[in-house]
Amino acid sequence: MLTKKIYDGINHQWIMFGRDPEKPKAIIDTNQYMVRTRNNALLMDPGGIELFSAMLANVVKQVPVQQISHVFASHQDPDIISSLGLWDKALETATLHAPWLWEGFIRHFGMENISFDAIPDEGSTVTLDSVTLQFIPAHYLHASGNFHVYDPAAKVLMSGDVGAALEPIDAPLFVDDFDEHVKSMHMFHQRWMPSNLAKNDWVNRVRALDIELMCPQHGRMFAGDNVKRFLDWFEALDVGTAIKR
Ligand SMILES: [Fe+2]
Ligand SMILES: [Fe+2]
Repeated sequence: MLTKKIYDGINHQWIMFGRDPEKPKAIIDTNQYMVRTRNNALLMDPGGIELFSAMLANVVKQVPVQQISHVFASHQDPDIISSLGLWDKALETATLHAPWLWEGFIRHFGMENISFDAIPDEGSTVTLDSVTLQFIPAHYLHASGNFHVYDPAAKVLMSGDVGAALEPIDAPLFVDDFDEHVKSMHMFHQRWMPSNLAKNDWVNRVRALDIELMCPQHGRMFAGDNVKRFLDWFEALDVGTAIKR
């Protein structure tokens, strides 16, 4: 599994994990993210059961396991958080931040030690040492209760399934040719995103944020001007297309 530091600040770092060559072919490839502060770490969308051992091995190279005090699940999907029951055994004490709507569902993955912080619909924040991260509402994109993580100091938005692309395991980490990359995103967003109303509401709110790096859970990350290109493209896209209108 590849490990890449994507932000290196005075008080914290962002680290991406992904492109695991051991991953079975029939399983969708995922990106996992971690914010590390002085004494704490937040794991974001830590992934499925099948990549838990690779994730744990790579995460502990970056941070002692005792310092992983927070976990975040953008929504309830198995590719997001089905590893929860295993993290529950590995982490001594930690809090899972996830949409309130999905608590009774996410607990099916197994959660005895980790405590549940139910994020209200309007969002909330979490502070690790001196670093505050925001849980930004992204409901219906694609899950009915869904959040992204915004870091105003690093200007990073972890955008869950928004910005996702279906690509080979050896795809580059960053979008280079945006127009070419659209081919890998088009079907994913049209089919998995159900609501134009939700999409446009999200685009309007995210446009107001200062973002240098947008980090989806599948595919490549968007840096610099490609963030704005994505927002323009997504705004213009008609989604929810499985229903004929
Ligand atoms: Fe999902
Ligand atoms: Fe996903």
